[in-house]
Amino acid sequence: MHHFIAGLPKVELHLHIEGSLEPELMFELAQRNNIDISFASPDEVRAAYDFTDLQSFLDIYYQGAQVLLTKHDFFDLTWAYMLRCKADNVLHAELFFDPQTHTQRGVSFDTVMQGITTALIQAEQELGISSQLILCFLRHLDETSAFETLALAKPWREQIVAVGLDSSEVGHPPEKFARVFAAAREQGYLAVAHAGEEGPASNIIDALDILQVSRIDHGVRCVDDAQLVARLIDQKVHLTMCPLSNVKLKVFGAMDQHNIVDLLRQGVSVGINADDPAYFGGYMNDNFYAVAAAHPLTHQELALFTLHAIEASFCSTERKHALRQQVHAYVDGH
Ligand code: ADE
Ligand code: ZN
Repeated sequence: MHHFIAGLPKVELHLHIEGSLEPELMFELAQRNNIDISFASPDEVRAAYDFTDLQSFLDIYYQGAQVLLTKHDFFDLTWAYMLRCKADNVLHAELFFDPQTHTQRGVSFDTVMQGITTALIQAEQELGISSQLILCFLRHLDETSAFETLALAKPWREQIVAVGLDSSEVGHPPEKFARVFAAAREQGYLAVAHAGEEGPASNIIDALDILQVSRIDHGVRCVDDAQLVARLIDQKVHLTMCPLSNVKLKVFGAMDQHNIVDLLRQGVSVGINADDPAYFGGYMNDNFYAVAAAHPLTHQELALFTLHAIEASFCSTERKHALRQQVHAYVDGH
C-alpha cells in the first residue's frame, strides 16, 4: 500500500504556504534577517508544536511567519514546498497565502507575490508541476482590512485564481465577508472558504449560499446535517480535507474516528491535503499513509481522492484531462 500511495499521482488543493515553513528554514531566515525567535534549535521549535485546538496552532503559526521578510525568503519558502511536491508526486498544487499576516508587519504585498510567483514559475519549468494561487482573507480581521487587501491584489489579478477565507472560524462566520467576496467575484476571482472545520455545518451552507464558493476547505462538520451531505453529493461540492491537521488540532480524537472515508463511500467528493505540513507532521504522502493505516482502502478508492481533486481544481480542461489520464494509467498498471 505504501508503494502504491508513493507513486500515485496527486493534486493538492489545501496548502497554506506559510504552513510549510519547516523549523530549519525558520532558523535560517531568522539568522539571515537578524530576527530573534526565542528558540534554541529547530528541534525545540518542533517540540512546541503541541496543539489543543485551532487557535493554539494559529498563535504559533503567525509567530513563525515573522521571519519572512524579503522576496528571497518567500521564494525559498515556496521552492522548498515545490520540492516536497516533487518528492510526493504532487503534479498540481493550489496554494493559499495570507497577505495580511505580512502586510500587517510592513512587508509589502508585492514582495510576497514576487517571491512566491518566481518559485511557482520555476517549478513549472524545472519540475513540471502546475499550480494556482489563492489569496486568503484572515477572518479574525475586519471587512475593511479584507477590502484593502483585495485592492492591493489588483495588479496581480492574473496570478491569483481565487480568494479564500481562513484563520479562526468560531465567531467569524462567512456572512462577515459577504461584501468582499461579492466584490472579488465581480473582479473575476473564484472563491473558496474554510468552513465546518471547528465551526458548525451552517458555516458550510453559508459559504456556499452567501460567499458562492466553488469548494469547501475542511467541511468535516457537514455530517451534523444529513440534508447538507445530500446536497454536497447532489451538487458535487468538493471538500478539501486535511486528515493529519484534524487530528493534530483535535477536531477528531484519532485518525480512525475521521469521517473522510465514510464520506468518500457515501459519494461525497473529498480529497486529501496537508494544510500546514510543517506543523502537522507530514506532507501529502504522510496524509495518505495515515488515512490508509486507519481505514483500509482499495487502490481505486485511493485514486478516487486524486480524481475528485482534479475535477475540483482550478486548472484548464486540457490540464485536467492530462492529469486524469496519468491517474488512470497508474491504476491500470497496478
Ligand atoms: N490557517 C492555516 N491553517 C488553517 C486552518 N487549518 N484553519 C484555519 N486557518 C488556517
Ligand atoms: Zn487550512
